[in-house]
Amino acid sequence: MVTVRRLGRSDADSVADALFELVARFATSFAPERSAFEVSLRAVLADDSAWLGVAHEEDGGDEAADRPVPLAGYCLGFDHPAFYANGRVAWVEEIMVREDLQGGGVGRSMMAAFEEWAAVRDDRLVGLATRRAAPFYAALGYEDSAAYFRKLL
Ligand SMILES: CC(C)(COP(=O)(O)OP(=O)(O)OC[C@H]1O[C@@H](n2cnc3c(N)ncnc32)[C@H](O)[C@@H]1OP(=O)(O)O)[C@@H](O)C(=O)NCCC(=O)NCCS
Repeated sequence: MVTVRRLGRSDADSVADALFELVARFATSFAPERSAFEVSLRAVLADDSAWLGVAHEEDGGDEAADRPVPLAGYCLGFDHPAFYANGRVAWVEEIMVREDLQGGGVGRSMMAAFEEWAAVRDDRLVGLATRRAAPFYAALGYEDSAAYFRKLL
């Protein structure tokens, strides 16, 4: 059984190592550095318009015994005002499920939790860019809407 929860400032330290491991496996264009990750993590946790969800197996760790809590996955997204949508729009920035758990519904659960947060904030849509996971988003009811361009700075 996997549960998804929004990470808060009070419990971020206990999962930071496991989260960074997943972040490092998610990234393809960049090589994540721990010091930069720490800065971004603090910024995300202090930002009301950021949503960082983590998934973990209910029997997968023992915080009382001071053992690391393994993560099943994470999802990072944001929302912001947009003129075109007459309100706020939400975007998924990163989503990653541990390789041995992929295909078991963890990604779907994290996206549902993000969508729930976005709906409570009255966001008008959830968007994202993807190169690797189009069939996943299609299975969740997302439509192909635009091409994604970028320029590295
Ligand atoms: C993409 C990813 C987040 C999906 O999470 P997941 O837990 O494996 O997906 P789920 O098991 O929740 O799948 C949900 C649905 O999507 C479908 N799906 C997931 N990945 C799929 C794929 N590669 N091809 C086709 N369908 C896929 C599943 O069949 C399922 O549909 P169903 O419920 O109708 O059977 C995960 O595979 C992952 O971390 N991949 C590597 C990182 C990545 O690509 N992230 C996205 C970058 S934008």
